[in-house]
Parts: sequence; C-alpha cells; structure tokens
Amino acid sequence: MELTEPYKTEVLPAHTLELLEAAVTKAARVLRHGDIVALPTETVYGLAANAFDPNAVSAIFQAKGRPSNNPIIVHVADLEMARKCVSDWPLLAQRLADTFWPGPLTLVLRRSALIPDVVTAGGDTVGIRWPAHPIMQAVIRACGFPLAAPSANLSNRVSPTKASHVLKHLSGRIPLIIDGGSCQVGIESTVLDLSHPAPRLLRPGIITAAALRPYTGALDAADEPSPTHLKSPGLLPKHYSPRARLVLWQWSDEAGLLAQVASAGVSPTRAAVVAHTNIPGQGVIGRVSIVPRDPEAYARALYAELHACDEWGAETIILEQPPSTPEWQAILDRLRRAKS
Ligand code: TXA
Ligand code: MG
Repeated sequence: MELTEPYKTEVLPAHTLELLEAAVTKAARVLRHGDIVALPTETVYGLAANAFDPNAVSAIFQAKGRPSNNPIIVHVADLEMARKCVSDWPLLAQRLADTFWPGPLTLVLRRSALIPDVVTAGGDTVGIRWPAHPIMQAVIRACGFPLAAPSANLSNRVSPTKASHVLKHLSGRIPLIIDGGSCQVGIESTVLDLSHPAPRLLRPGIITAAALRPYTGALDAADEPSPTHLKSPGLLPKHYSPRARLVLWQWSDEAGLLAQVASAGVSPTRAAVVAHTNIPGQGVIGRVSIVPRDPEAYARALYAELHACDEWGAETIILEQPPSTPEWQAILDRLRRAKS
C-alpha cells in the first residue's frame, strides 16, 4: 500500500509516573485529533484509533497494509463503554466480563449504530475487549471514547511484544508509539463469538477453552469455519509469520536434529533453533535460543524470539515442537499459522 504521509515516528517512554502521565496525555491528544498511536496492552502492542471515527480507523488499515475485510477489535475501559458499542448484551457476556475482564478475552457481539462499518468490515458484529494494561486503560479513559486496535504489526506478520518490534514494522508510518516495556501475555487475546446461540471459539488464547466452558458449556472450535459464522481472518491458514521460513520439528538429540537439517537442505549456519527441551550445543547451528517448557512462559517469549531470529537474519527458524496437551492449544494455533 502507498505511504501518503511519512511520519517521523516518536517513541515515548513511560517507566516513571511522570513519563507515564506525559505519554498518556500526548497519546490522548493525538487520538482526539483523529490520528493513530501504537500502545502496549497485556497481550501484544495495538495500533489504536478512535473507534467511533471511520477516518481514523481507515488510517490503521493504511499503516498496516491490512485487508479491509478484516474486522478490528474495539477496546474499552469499563462495562458502560462496552455496552455502548453493542446492541445486545447477553447474560453470558455479563458473566464472562465479570470473570475475565479486564483481561485477554475478546467477545464478538452484535454491534450498535455507533460502530462504523470500517471497524466491523461491514459485518453486523463487533469484537470487544477490556484490556488489563494500565497504559491502555489510562489512554482510553483520557480519550473518553473506545479505541479500535489491531496488533501493531504489518499485516500477516508476527505481532509486536516490545516497542522496538512496532518501530521495526511501522517506523515512518505512524506518528507515535508509547513504550510500555514487554507485554506480559505475549500472544493475542482469546476471541469468543457470542453473536449466535452456540458460543464459538474463533481464536484460542491464554484464557483457554477449559476456562471458558464452565460459563459457555460445550464450545465449538473454529477450525472448520461454519457458514453461519463470520470467518475471522486471524483464522486464515497463513498469518502471524516471521520473514524466515519456519519449521516445527522434533528431535531427541543433537545428531538427530543435524540429520534433519541435512536432509531438509537447510543451511545450519543460517538456521536459528528455538528449543524448550532438547537443547543443541552451540557450534554447528547458527543461533540457538531456549524458551521455557511452560505454556504461559512460552507464550510470553515466543514472538520476541521470532522477531529476534528475523533480526539476526535467519533463513530458517527451527522450532522444537511443543507438547500437544490442551494448555498448549493457543501456542500450537499460532505456530501452525506462522509455519511456512
Ligand atoms: O490481544 C489482542 O486481541 C490484540 C490487542 C491489541 O488487543 N489485538 C489483535 O487484533 O490481535 P488483530 O486485529 O491482530 O486480531 C483480531 C482478530 C482478527 O483475527 C479478526 O479477524 C478477529 O479478531 N475479529 C475482530 N472482530 C471480529 C468480528 N466482529 N468477528 C469475527 N472476528 C473478529
Ligand atoms: Mg494481528
């Protein structure tokens, strides 16, 4: 997409109370003016605009190169604001909000007339989330309107979990980034569709299907998108991809790994291995990093590792296959889509 208005992108720190207040004030001023700002949330960094202003939201699509058929999540800072965005607030939404908000859960509901078409990609539903991050909350409160925000990366690429990741993708394309450090969750929110009688999990996340089922009952997974439900582009087979080719392999020792490297024709010196259990020694493989074998800690580390492998110049990223138990569902989902 053509870049019409090059910006000198400003990155504001927020690690003291004074800096935080100044950053929030500046972000709210830019947003009130109809511009876009990258902000930290507890999941990943978001690229925010006034959700009630179609022109401001259009600028998000332009900056990301995002296809216009992909709806954007609306972020709120209280229940009253959430209810303004929807035409119908079912009891199940209230129960889930009471339990999981603020937090990494997005609820898809019937939209209200205040939400413009560009946010919903013309559909009659809107994804709503009350994020837990104090900076995001403070900016929404200072604005007084909800913020439409997708992840602050170029379309289809790995989401940012640090301000430097946002800068790498969007420098010159947006006016402002607030640096809130590393995101605590590290992968995008769970997306749950409540707009139909049977709740449906559109995107797994750190709030797992098992945690939702006591409220939702049986939960359809979205692997086979049903024609009655709007397809979520975050469910497309290829998404969340690093620049390097990414493969998911299993090995039991270094010799086994190196044999696979050789038979796949991968250059070992240009390969980056991300391992959680069987760690190869340094030497033959160009880059080796270790991630924790715990789903929450793994999620926190994953995108930063993928960004780091790309920055190092990896040709191939070889990820050690994580376990396939239900707690790993969200990670396996992202890896499946990131894979070449
Ligand atoms: O954690 C997150 O959800 C982050 C932070 C910034 O809040 N946001 C995020 O946004 O990941 P994005 O746009 O990268 O992913 C949102 C996903 C997309 O797959 C989109 O298609 C889906 O949610 N989505 C949004 N609104 C929807 C709707 N009304 N119906 C179905 N899917 C929807
Ligand atoms: Mg995204």
